[in-house]
Amino acid sequence: MTRLAGKSALITGAGRGIGLAFAKAYLQEGARVALADINGDLAHEAADRLGAGAMAVKMDVTRQQSIEAAVERTIEAHGQIDVLINNAALFTAAPIVEIQRADYARVFEVNVAGTLFPLQAVARHMIDRGIRGRIINMASQAGRRGEPLVAVYCATKAAVISLTQSAGLDLIRYGIRVNAIAPGVVDGAHWDGVDAFFAKYENKAPGQKKAEVGAAVPYGRMGRAEDLTGMAVFLASDEAEYIVAQCYNVDGGQWMS
Ligand SMILES: NC(=O)c1ccc[n+]([C@@H]2O[C@H](COP(=O)([O-])OP(=O)(O)OC[C@H]3O[C@@H](n4cnc5c(N)ncnc54)[C@H](O)[C@@H]3O)[C@@H](O)[C@H]2O)c1
Repeated sequence: MTRLAGKSALITGAGRGIGLAFAKAYLQEGARVALADINGDLAHEAADRLGAGAMAVKMDVTRQQSIEAAVERTIEAHGQIDVLINNAALFTAAPIVEIQRADYARVFEVNVAGTLFPLQAVARHMIDRGIRGRIINMASQAGRRGEPLVAVYCATKAAVISLTQSAGLDLIRYGIRVNAIAPGVVDGAHWDGVDAFFAKYENKAPGQKKAEVGAAVPYGRMGRAEDLTGMAVFLASDEAEYIVAQCYNVDGGQWMS
């Protein structure tokens, strides 16, 4: 299919997991894709595997210079940026009384500042060039409500939903549409890390938390990265032209709002 034919997309945190699945889906829809990741080797290997239309760019979403350099490199290679997916994020967990300020700052920096400032850099480019661009932020069901052990990560994802609303309302005057996706529980390396946190804090065997959350999903299993690609393609496509400042749950029925 070619719903994104001729479009150029920049995806942060695309070296693996959901961002990589988005990159594949966008290529299949006719887009050219820059896979940006702090792990440059991962991004390069992924882009090489994807082949024509894919490029890798090393990018740390917490460093302004790195953001600007990655945006420039993508524009140099692909002419412009029509779509940005702010996907890079870190997970952390701890009981409230054990949260460390340094860990709080690190995760907020990646998940919140690391969404706002790439969004700002790409929005400036879109405004300068008169591009009616699309920006998609990766939120989470964790941003819809608190969790006892997950205060910091939940707060970052609530902030991503709020930023999506404010940026969506501010940028629509330029024809730039900002929306978000809130996944539920998606299998992969990220969730292996989450499982390890719960093994530590809830005394569970490795893999136990994963099995429990999968069984609790109304659909009947954990999500897969590929379960999210339809929404990511749709939000970047012309079919979503009138959708502004929204956050969509794609979670097998876990959350309703
Ligand atoms: N997996 C899930 O269950 C789940 C659920 C809800 C929301 N999400 C969200 O979806 C997105 C993707 O999740 P995933 O499961 O693919 O995660 P992942 O951990 O597998 O991938 C994240 C990628 O981001 C990169 N990254 C980390 N810090 C970075 C930085 N400073 N600059 C640039 N890149 C950086 C990592 O190298 C990695 O390749 C995240 O925003 C996550 O919060 C995931």
